[in-house]
Amino acid sequence: MHDKIETISSIDKIHLLTKKLRQEKKSIGFVPTMGYLHEGHLSLVSESKKNNDVTIVSIFVNPTQFAPSEDLTTYPRDLERDKKLLAELGTDYLFFPNVEDFYPDDFQSHVSVNEITKILEGEFRPTHFKGVTTVVAMLFNCVMPDNTYFGQKDAQQAAVIKQMVKDMKFDIKINVCPIIREEDGLAMSSRNVFLDEKERQDALVLSKSLKLAEELINEGERETKKILTEMEKLINSVDTSQLDYVSIVEVESFKITDRIEKNKNYYILIACKIGKTRLIDNKLLKM
Ligand code: PAF
Repeated sequence: MHDKIETISSIDKIHLLTKKLRQEKKSIGFVPTMGYLHEGHLSLVSESKKNNDVTIVSIFVNPTQFAPSEDLTTYPRDLERDKKLLAELGTDYLFFPNVEDFYPDDFQSHVSVNEITKILEGEFRPTHFKGVTTVVAMLFNCVMPDNTYFGQKDAQQAAVIKQMVKDMKFDIKINVCPIIREEDGLAMSSRNVFLDEKERQDALVLSKSLKLAEELINEGERETKKILTEMEKLINSVDTSQLDYVSIVEVESFKITDRIEKNKNYYILIACKIGKTRLIDNKLLKM
């Protein structure tokens, strides 16, 4: 078992390292994170280790993807614990850039993706995806990976990044890995730590409403409006909940759909506040 992980903060050093790895014909798997790692992140690292010669994980709490009203300053952090978890998994390198190096005073570029960022998360967090795509493009340029690993929990984020990679001609494969849940169904998230005991129970309404939607579809319901209405009723029955959206989109196009059709794949998506904590969850539906 490894007890230490080599940590690189300098952009010059990560460029040198990944250049050398490419010269040695080593495949690079990359898992970008904002730290405070949980089983969901670790499953991405394991997937990368299975499929690449070298695995690099980044931890960077990216300020530009948080709106001023959001939780940047309180976002949970525990670098020493994260390093230990990554070392235990045999992760090869941790890239831990500084905010001042990533966003120097004269920084003035950004990458933004258009249509797909306007709906759902984009409607409730209008500046979020521009921050995500900009930092992910920077991280990709630092690490130049062959494969990257993103969690399905942030399904829209994965779709936005896939679109960016396609449009910007990055030679990088995006792998989307399944959601990892607690035993009782709550999707793992760094933000779950903010939930008090009652809210932790109440938060189960997200996964329960996804299950309800799946049951309705299995019973033959095809009109999304009816399915979403039942989900909303269940979510609104919990007094700490404040629903942002429930929606059903086609997996590939991420377009909102009115009807569930045969031979197509869909995501049923939820964003909901439980108390002050905003949570998201989704279910992949293969028809
Ligand atoms: O999903 C996340 O943790 C972040 O949005 C990401 C992809 C690391 C970009 O900051």
